Amino acid sequence: MKDKIFIIEYAKGTDKGFDGFRPDSKPILSEIRKVTDREREIVFYRPNKKYELLDYLKENAFAVISRINPGNLKEVDEYFQFLKALANSGVEVHTHPDVMINLDFKDILAKLKGSSLGDDDTYFYHTYTDFVSKFPADLDKYGIRVLKTNYGSTGEGVYLVSKKEDGSIFTVEAVNNEKFYYDDINEFLHKFEINFEDDDENAAYFQGKAGFVGCRYLERISEGEIRVLLVNDKAISVVHKKPQEGEFSATLFSGAKYKYESPEDPKWKEVMKVTKKGLKDLRPYLSGQNYPLLWTMDYILDYNEDGTDKYVLSEINCSCVGITTELQYAKEVAKVFKKAKK
Ligand SMILES: Nc1ncnc2c1ncn2[C@@H]1O[C@H](COP(=O)(O)OP(=O)(O)O)[C@@H](O)[C@H]1O
Ligand SMILES: [Mg+2]
Repeated sequence: MKDKIFIIEYAKGTDKGFDGFRPDSKPILSEIRKVTDREREIVFYRPNKKYELLDYLKENAFAVISRINPGNLKEVDEYFQFLKALANSGVEVHTHPDVMINLDFKDILAKLKGSSLGDDDTYFYHTYTDFVSKFPADLDKYGIRVLKTNYGSTGEGVYLVSKKEDGSIFTVEAVNNEKFYYDDINEFLHKFEINFEDDDENAAYFQGKAGFVGCRYLERISEGEIRVLLVNDKAISVVHKKPQEGEFSATLFSGAKYKYESPEDPKWKEVMKVTKKGLKDLRPYLSGQNYPLLWTMDYILDYNEDGTDKYVLSEINCSCVGITTELQYAKEVAKVFKKAKK
């Protein structure tokens, strides 16, 4: 009987509660229970048991909710193919891997160039050769630039790179505000090479995905990052994330402070307008699927030419957004499954 709703987690990870599950998974399932009479279950994805799990889910699942950070998986391409196989067999997959591959990685920022969400001064360095030939000039333009590894999360592989007047290079990694110095651009380029990987020839999903996205440094990050939390195309919260005094990282582990506010609050009117418009720009990247189940559009402030506020998209997260500290949003997630009454 294909009538259960499943959450898929990875067995390992730093995102687990005392019982080995993500602390917000059971609350989400309990809310789903209130709106549908379908059974629910949490399963672990184990790469060496994936065929057994695939059979089990094909037999029993009406819908699955994937809650795995691709960064935790070595076999992420395989996992995406696993989700695709489920979707192809008629199971509802939240979020569909075709959507995750397009939105959850930083290269979307370069793809959105020219749209209302995209910043024109964004570039995806797919290979190290490309990086060496283009990055020095990109850095010289403003003397400062942000580099983001295409696959990263929680600030890992996100570097603020700046060039001093004497030509030396200074970097800060967002994950922990760790700082490094290099004598000149050549030393930096040389030491950075290790961060570039080749594409895996056997990958189905990850062709062309290795590399770094270069973005303009937005100094108003000191005022914080503005995160719009969405369920499909509905904004459910605005989170204001403020970095520690004097630092650039707005990630939780680096000590930034989070404040959850209502999207109805008049002070977020402009960001809601930008988001609504942005949803249209993102539509071509949904490959005919729905918007992600639980996801975020993160912005950093900049100025328009006339001095008014401009919201610049800095990333999208849609593979495993957590709501552990704000469990009231589980109800919003559950609403998506209301139609799924037997
Ligand atoms: N263009 C930018 N200008 C200034 N700071 C940035 C910029 N992009 C990212 N940051 C900082 O780096 C942090 C991590 O970058 P982000 O794109 O959110 O990657 P992730 O959270 O996936 O690691 C952000 O929270 C923000 O503090
Ligand atoms: Mg982030």
